[in-house]
Amino acid sequence: LHSQKLEALGTLAGGVAHDLNNTLVPILSLSKLALEDLSEDDPLHADIVTIVSASERARDLVKRILAFSRKQDVQKTRIDPAAVVRQALQMLRVTLPSHIAFIERVGDVPSIFADAGQLQQVVVNLVTNAAQAIGAAVHASITVELSALAAAPGAANRPSNLVRLRVADTGCGMEKAVLDRIFEPFFTTKAVGEGTGLGLSVVHGIVTGHGGSIEVKNKRGKGTVFTILLPVAEAAAGAAATASALDAAA
Ligand SMILES: Nc1ncnc2c1ncn2[C@@H]1O[C@H](COP(=O)(O)OP(=O)(O)OP(=O)(O)O)[C@@H](O)[C@H]1O
Ligand SMILES: [Mg+2]
Repeated sequence: LHSQKLEALGTLAGGVAHDLNNTLVPILSLSKLALEDLSEDDPLHADIVTIVSASERARDLVKRILAFSRKQDVQKTRIDPAAVVRQALQMLRVTLPSHIAFIERVGDVPSIFADAGQLQQVVVNLVTNAAQAIGAAVHASITVELSALAAAPGAANRPSNLVRLRVADTGCGMEKAVLDRIFEPFFTTKAVGEGTGLGLSVVHGIVTGHGGSIEVKNKRGKGTVFTILLPVAEAAAGAAATASALDAAA
C-alpha cells in the first residue's frame, strides 16, 4: 500500500512539476531580460531581482521533484559497497560544517547487487539530514558505519548474509508524530526553501528497490540512528523472491 501511494504521489507530483516548469520559463527569462534593461538605481531593479531569485528557487524545487518522480534508470551491478560509501563520505567530509565530528567506520564487506549512484544518494541524504538535525549544536558527531552482518541462524525468509549501513547522529531527534511520517514524500519539518521532504522517501524507495530494509531508532533530544540492511549479492535474488512472495500474500 505504501509503495502504491508513493508511486501515485510521484506521478501526480511529476505532472504538476512539469506544468509548473513550463510556467516558470517565461517568468524567469523575461524578468532576466527586464533586468538587463534597468540601471541599478532604477526603483524597479530590486523588485525584479527578487522575482528572478524567487523563480530560480522555484525552478530548483521543480527540478528536484522531477528527479524524484521520474522513473530513473537503475543500473544494478555487482559492486563493492565499501568503495561506494567511502567515495560518498569523501565528498561529504568537505561539505560538512567543521564543528561536527565525522566518524567513519567503513569495514570491508561482501559485494552487493546494486546501483552505485543510488547507494551514494542514500548515504548523502542520510548524512545531510544528520547534519541538519545537529544544526549549530556543539560536541556533535555523525557516525557512518558499514559492516557485514550474518542473519540469526534459522531466521525464516531472511537472506543469510546482509550488509549493514548505519548513520547515527547526536542531533535533535524527533517526536513520534514526526517519526511516523518521515518516509512520506513531501513531509518536512524544515522551513520553505530548506527542505522539500523528499530525501527519506527517496532513501526508502532505493532501499526497498534493492530488497533491503530500513529501521530508525530515535531519542528525542539525543539523536537518531538509521540502520539499513542490504542483502549481499548471492542472497539478493532470494531476497527479491521473498519480497514478491510477501507482496503477493498481502
Ligand atoms: N537525522 C534526523 N534527525 C532528526 N530528524 C530527522 C532526521 N532525518 C530526518 N528527520 C526528519 O524527517 C523529515 C523528513 O526528512 P527528509 O530527508 O525526507 O526531508 P527534508 O530533509 O525535510 O527535506 P529534503 O531531504 O528534501 O531536503 C525532516 O524534515 C526531519 O523532520
Ligand atoms: Mg533530507
